[in-house]
Amino acid sequence: MAFSSRTWLLSSAVLFSIMSLSCGRVPPNSGPVKAVNLGGWLVTEGWIKPSLFDGIPNKDFLDGTELQFKSVTTGKYLAAELGGGSIIVANRTSASGWERFRLWRINETTFNFRVFNKDFVGLDVKGNGAQVVAVSKTPGSSETFEIIRKPNDSSRVRIKAPNGFFLQAKTEDLVTADYAGSGSGWGNNDPSVFVISFSGKLEGEFQVTNGYGPKKAPQVMREHWNTFIVEDDFHFIKTNGLNAVRIPVGWWIASDPTPPDPYVGGSLLALDKAFLWAQRYGLKVIIDLHAAPGSQNGFEHSASRDGSQEWGQTDENIQQTVDVIDFLSARYARSPSLYAVELINEPFSPGVSLQNVTKFYKAGYAAVRKHSSTAYVVFSNRLGPMESRELFPLANGLKGSVIDVHYYSLFVSAFDNLTVQQNIDFIHTNRSQELNYVTTSNGPLTFVGEWVAEWKVTGATKEDYQRFANAQLEVWARATFGWAYWTLKNVNKHWSLEWMIKNGYIKLT
Ligand SMILES: *[C@@H]1O[C@H](CO)[C@@H](O)[C@H](O)[C@H]1NC(C)=O
Ligand SMILES: *[C@@H]1O[C@H](CO)[C@@H](O)[C@H](O)[C@H]1NC(C)=O
Ligand SMILES: *[C@@H]1O[C@H](CO)[C@@H](O)[C@H](O)[C@H]1NC(C)=O
Ligand SMILES: *[C@@H]1O[C@H](CO)[C@@H](O)[C@H](O)[C@H]1NC(C)=O
Ligand SMILES: *[C@@H]1O[C@H](CO)[C@@H](O)[C@H](O)[C@H]1NC(C)=O
Ligand SMILES: *[C@@H]1O[C@H](CO)[C@@H](O)[C@H](O)[C@H]1NC(C)=O
Repeated sequence: MAFSSRTWLLSSAVLFSIMSLSCGRVPPNSGPVKAVNLGGWLVTEGWIKPSLFDGIPNKDFLDGTELQFKSVTTGKYLAAELGGGSIIVANRTSASGWERFRLWRINETTFNFRVFNKDFVGLDVKGNGAQVVAVSKTPGSSETFEIIRKPNDSSRVRIKAPNGFFLQAKTEDLVTADYAGSGSGWGNNDPSVFVISFSGKLEGEFQVTNGYGPKKAPQVMREHWNTFIVEDDFHFIKTNGLNAVRIPVGWWIASDPTPPDPYVGGSLLALDKAFLWAQRYGLKVIIDLHAAPGSQNGFEHSASRDGSQEWGQTDENIQQTVDVIDFLSARYARSPSLYAVELINEPFSPGVSLQNVTKFYKAGYAAVRKHSSTAYVVFSNRLGPMESRELFPLANGLKGSVIDVHYYSLFVSAFDNLTVQQNIDFIHTNRSQELNYVTTSNGPLTFVGEWVAEWKVTGATKEDYQRFANAQLEVWARATFGWAYWTLKNVNKHWSLEWMIKNGYIKLT
């Protein structure tokens, strides 16, 4: 097969010297990486370690939490008329986009509400000051509200406006901040009472740090960084058949020790330690910029504040991200463990255009090369609608470039009802074809930078999991740069490579 022979050739000294002669210096390739991600460490993901959020007061009202409000008097939902840019009404019988309000948390009781078109709810300062509208692009004091929850029944709330009065649904199409009633009995006749429901939440770095606030967050995060991944983990990785780690980091690491609010300093020291341990145990490090300023995909794992994706929309924002890559490359270029720099993880299409991400990739590549002629530079394919070779024209002229593809048998309905065998066949046929398509003899190297032996099958046996993991390992072995399991540690056991190895589900040695 073309693939196995190319893998062999790439890892041999023969091709290395040929390439050195024909196109200058390329990074040494000592065989594909068998890596594990250190997910949930320097970039928080609540589902990986839920206990990290335990100490946050009022912890179900975090940044990005999406609330719906049903007026107890009209029996209908609040909505931003037209999705924003207009008044707030209380006349919707069901709740979808325009009826959702995303929180920006000021502190445990005080919030801004962001509506569908990203405007903020506030008081109509141009009118009589009591009409509630969603017209402001940035939140100020007129857009700042207190949420008061009914004691012992947290599904009922009242909302206190900055003018000191409560919001009320006066009629279905008139929502005002002029209700003075202080001794509310929380009953169904009180127009200032709303029943809330949740339609979304985020548990990322922004949520955890802003949730604890500036006094507690530094202590909580440092404790997490010092205990979640320790030197022993590198020993475990080394002695269980792996040769590399992919380490997700956030953009704020570059301004350590004083990153912008609400982020806290100290993740850079943790990364320094990881490099030290990697060197001690002979492991390679792939630095992965997992969270870029503004968020490149709106997920919590890119530290989105409220689900918005705003990365890549301006030249300033792209330049700021290049500076982060420059900083990291400069800091670690002399470490023998620095193997690759992944410029950005999973930018989302179409929100991030191919043109803009390409501009960033070119500048990011140059920033790495300024400091290292040998580190690989990894370009993550976009998520969402895209052509899986769309980065080839870019990668073509750039030595040591790698395309990262992520293969999960989850998240889309196509996997909903597959049996164990169908899942395994999917790896051997569909995924195999996909990987073959991006793995070409004269193109960039390929990296399955995230995968997991988890699926939508319920009640699978240990043997089923072993077969599923082995099928993936067999196919991913053809990725010319290598692969990385997502992730080393996770309360969800199949997502924890440590658990999978310790319990005999996956064997790499
Ligand atoms: C929350 O912020 C508001 C507005 O800045 C302030 O008035 C209030 O005292 C703060 N509450 C707490 C608990 O810090
Ligand atoms: C809330 O419930 C607790 C015990 O369940 C009770 O002691 C307390 O009085 C209640 N508070 C209110 C305001 O109803
Ligand atoms: C809700 O009220 C607004 C303002 O009066 C009106 O334009 C809109 O058509 C109403 N929507 C529904 C579903 O009744
Ligand atoms: C791409 O960047 C330009 C600025 O260089 C900006 O005007 C445009 O909106 C961006 N496109 C997207 C989809 O963000
Ligand atoms: C999966 O099965 C359920 C129950 O039979 C069905 O409702 C659903 O449409 C199926 N999903 C897909 C993607 O085929
Ligand atoms: C996998 O590939 C087969 C054969 O090409 C195709 O029939 C099937 O629809 C694919 N499955 C999915 C989920 O894309």
